[in-house]
Amino acid sequence: MKLIIDSANVDKIKEYLEYLPIDGVTTNPSILKAEGKIEFINHMKEIRHIIGIDKSLHVQTISDTAEGMVRDAHDILESIDDQVYVKIPTSKEGLKAIKQLKAESVNITATAIYSTMQGLLATEMGADYLAPYINRMQNLDTDPFLVVNQLARNIEQTNSSTRILGASYKNVSQVIDSLMAGATHVTVGSDVLDKFLDNANIAKAVADFGQDWNTIHERFSIK
Ligand code: E4P
Repeated sequence: MKLIIDSANVDKIKEYLEYLPIDGVTTNPSILKAEGKIEFINHMKEIRHIIGIDKSLHVQTISDTAEGMVRDAHDILESIDDQVYVKIPTSKEGLKAIKQLKAESVNITATAIYSTMQGLLATEMGADYLAPYINRMQNLDTDPFLVVNQLARNIEQTNSSTRILGASYKNVSQVIDSLMAGATHVTVGSDVLDKFLDNANIAKAVADFGQDWNTIHERFSIK
C-alpha cells in the first residue's frame, strides 16, 4: 500500500508523517476550502517543504475548459514546482488537457473517475495516476471495487505504467477493499486516517503488559 494524505491541513500532515508511511499529499478545491482563506500558492509550497520533493504532491486545476486547465497546470508548475502531479477531472475537456499536458511530459493525476471507461480513456491518454472516487461511486449504486479491478486488469494486460490511486473514502473497509481490488495507492482524509489505529483494545493490551511488568519489576524500564 502506498498511502497518501487527502488533506491540506499542515498540522495534520506533520502529525501523520511522524507515524504513518506517507507517500504524498492530494488536495482539491473542497479540501482547500476547509483551511479557510489561505494564500493558495504559499500554502502548497509549505506542504511541499514539509513532505519534501521525494513524496508526491497532487494539485487540482480550477477551470472547466481544456485551455483553462492547461493554463492552470502551467501556473501550478511554475509557482510550486515542476514535479507536482496536476489533477485534471476526467471529462471531455479534461481528456483534451491531459493529452496536451502529457505531450509536455507533465505529471498527471486523472481525477473524478466514476466509471471504468473514464479510467480506460485516461490510461490510454498517459495519465500517471487514476483517481477513482470510491465512496461517491457507492452512493450512486456503482460497485467501485469492480471498477478498480477492471482498471487494474487493463493496466496489467497493456503493461501500462499508470497507477490506481483510490480516492473519496469514508471508512477503513473501503480503503482495504480498494487495495485488494488492485489499487496500489490510496489517498485518505484525516477522518478515516484517524480510524486506522482507533481501537481501545490496543491501549488496553499495552496497559495490561505494563501492569504485568510492574508486578515483578521495580522500574518501568528494561535496564
Ligand atoms: C482526491 O483528492 C479526491 O478529490 C477526494 O478524495 C474526493 O473525496 P470526497 O468524495 O470526499 O470529496
